[in-house]
Amino acid sequence: MKPTQSWDPERYARNARFVSDLGAPVLELLAPRSGERVLDLGCGDGVLSQRLVGAGCRVLGVDASPEQVAAARSRGIEAIVGDAEALAVEGEFDAVFSNAVLHWMKRPERVLAGVWRALRPGGRFVAEMGGAGCIRKIETALLRVLDGRGIDGRGLNPWYFPEPDAYRAKLIQVGFEVDSIALIPRPTPLPGDVIGWLETFAESFLQPVPASERPGLLAEVRERLRPELCDAEGRWIADYVRLRFAAHRPEVGSSDARRGRASP
Ligand code: BEZ
Repeated sequence: MKPTQSWDPERYARNARFVSDLGAPVLELLAPRSGERVLDLGCGDGVLSQRLVGAGCRVLGVDASPEQVAAARSRGIEAIVGDAEALAVEGEFDAVFSNAVLHWMKRPERVLAGVWRALRPGGRFVAEMGGAGCIRKIETALLRVLDGRGIDGRGLNPWYFPEPDAYRAKLIQVGFEVDSIALIPRPTPLPGDVIGWLETFAESFLQPVPASERPGLLAEVRERLRPELCDAEGRWIADYVRLRFAAHRPEVGSSDARRGRASP
């Protein structure tokens, strides 16, 4: 069974608006300049693309979900449906920006090769994703509860949370110069019950479970997590860890570009 995940813009806005609300640091790291052509990779419903437009950028959003692309377009964002592991845009962009998406891409080499091709020489790649240890408690609780029902959930795990050194090596392998990369623990208050988070993001794990049994399974996961992630006032705080980085494609003929790049 392959991991699968669907994106419902209304459910996403209800349970996951914090994802774009907390995007300020990665936007700051990008430091968008007026007039730049920016690709927003995994633009979702376009909230951060709008911020880029507000900074004067010409933005193209790409997202795998037709529903999210429609939501982005309804905000006035130019957006297309596309697969980040098979990006088909060539050499046009001053920057590629991505927030909270790359951890869904289990073939990062393909993503990075596409980002490289999309950037002009000198162009920047600035992103934030889940990093090593991200939502480990949630992941562990899901796997344990599935295990209790005789299901091995490891093959259903849709996420890839790399260490900085591992992702740095992948960026360099494609030819990027890495300007910064860091792991940032960010315990994240959820807007409601952890069940809303699980319904929004952990759909893959539920695939082998009959629909009638899913609410019971989610309730069991919640009770496992309560002592670790729910505070005395009943607020849920997810154990997020971010990996934030800035890299660039060296100018043609620069010493960076000559430094042994493998072709993507
Ligand atoms: C995120 O949106 O950052 C995220 C989603 C699922 C798991 C971990 C992080």
